[in-house]
Amino acid sequence: MITFELNGEAVEVDIAADTPLLWVVRDHFKLKGSKFGCGMGLCGACSMLVDGQSIRTCNFPVAAISGRKVTTIEGLGNPERLSALQQAWVDNSVAQCGYCQSGQLISATALLNNNLNPSDSEIDEAMSGNICRCGTYPRIKKAIADVAKKAGAPSAGVNVFVPGQEG
Ligand code: FES
Ligand code: FES
Repeated sequence: MITFELNGEAVEVDIAADTPLLWVVRDHFKLKGSKFGCGMGLCGACSMLVDGQSIRTCNFPVAAISGRKVTTIEGLGNPERLSALQQAWVDNSVAQCGYCQSGQLISATALLNNNLNPSDSEIDEAMSGNICRCGTYPRIKKAIADVAKKAGAPSAGVNVFVPGQEG
C-alpha cells in the first residue's frame, strides 16, 4: 500500500510500485487534468507539483511518492475560486488547444512559489521543459509576468497558490 497526499487529502493505493504516478492519478483517482504527451519526461504535459516542485509524472514511479504531497491542476483552484495564475491565463486567453496547459500552469505555479519576482530569463528557464505545439509561449509569459507584477504590490491581494497552505 502506498500512501500520499493528493490535493490536500490523504490517499492510499494498492498498485505495482513502478506504476507511473500519472496513471495512478488519471486511472485510479479519475483526475484527468494532467495529460499524457511524450511518456518520456520531455514535454511536461504530465507535470504535477510534488512538495511544491514541478515534476514529470509519466515516468515517475508511484512508490517514490510515498509520504509526499502531490498537487494536480484540479488542486490549484476551481471555477468558483481560480488561483491568481489561472485567472491570468483566462485574462490573457492563453490556451489554444489547451492540451499542454495543465502542465504549463503547474510549472508556472512552482516558479512563482519559489520566486515571486522572476526575471524574463528566469521565466524562460522555469518554463523551458513545457512544450506547447500551439505556440502559446508569449501569452504564457505575459500571464506569469502579470501575476508577478500584481504580487509585488501589497494591496493587490493576489492569491498565489502555496501547496499545503490552501484553504
Ligand atoms: S508526458 Fe510526461 S513529460 Fe511528456
Ligand atoms: S495550447 Fe495546444 S499544445 Fe499548448
